Amino acid sequence: MEKVQPKLIIHGGAGSSLKGKGGVEAVRRSLYPIIEEIYSLLESGISAKEAVVRGCQMLEDNPRFNAGTGSVLQSDGQIRMSASLMDGASQSFSGVINVSRVKNPIDLAIALQSSPDRVLSDYGAAELARELQIPSYNGLTELRLQEWIQERQDNFKRTMAGVVAESELVETSNARRGTIGVVVLDTQRRLSVGTSTGGKGFERIGRVSDSAMPAGNYATQYAAVSCTGIGEDIIDECLAPRIVVRVTDGMSLKEAMQRTFAEAHEHKRDFGAIALDASGAIAWGKTSQALLAAYHNGEKIGDTLEVPVGTEIGCVFSPEC
Ligand code: GLY
Repeated sequence: MEKVQPKLIIHGGAGSSLKGKGGVEAVRRSLYPIIEEIYSLLESGISAKEAVVRGCQMLEDNPRFNAGTGSVLQSDGQIRMSASLMDGASQSFSGVINVSRVKNPIDLAIALQSSPDRVLSDYGAAELARELQIPSYNGLTELRLQEWIQERQDNFKRTMAGVVAESELVETSNARRGTIGVVVLDTQRRLSVGTSTGGKGFERIGRVSDSAMPAGNYATQYAAVSCTGIGEDIIDECLAPRIVVRVTDGMSLKEAMQRTFAEAHEHKRDFGAIALDASGAIAWGKTSQALLAAYHNGEKIGDTLEVPVGTEIGCVFSPEC
């Protein structure tokens, strides 16, 4: 089979603009080393699925992002994380919902790819972690704890937590939300996508995130999409499959993003998405003010960190972009 140039796009959340000190540069310093490492692994021939898992692990391990270490706390002060993986070649989805005390929820999602039961929630996910002998891990950071304590003092006026952990607590009434995601096209033209989150933060116990549903993470052999933002909005638009199915049915990725984000804008949604298609086109879209995404187009690294508020779509590499 003829080898193709791999492509990669990752995100670390969406929300209001990065106002904190060093916001843009600090996020860039977090995203670029991950892009560099995963892209060089792709060039050495690892599969899209393996690259997605490694990329998600690295993003989950960075306390700046709301997934794995640095996850936000729910209303009862507990961390419950969700993650999923979808392999485009086999069109197979797997994931875990509201799992606690694991370092990398994406490790459970990949383990479930070959299981007859491919989506597990809290007790089942914890049982799987025990079966896999994954050590117990506490991903709580001081910053997230202080954020929760401050919010408790305010009697939980905010309905969600911040997307990116900043070096100082950000005084803002603008809710900022996030998750992490990785979308890959490998040298064999296989697509894969993974998404992982600590949720919205301060949500009620039992709330289920879009990140472990196809709505937030979906792929076929033609396109793959990872979403970030308000999960309920993502679910209401059925965002990832809406884009992927349009491409699968013959629409270009750019047109699918344009159509989908025009509808989202009309419906006043608040989210972002990153996408790849099998031809190697890379695209992103947002209705939120900011999308924290970076990509490698085979030649260089680019990002969406300084895209002006109000720009809703970006497309790179494909001839029509
Ligand atoms: N998109 C992450 C969440 O709402 O849980």
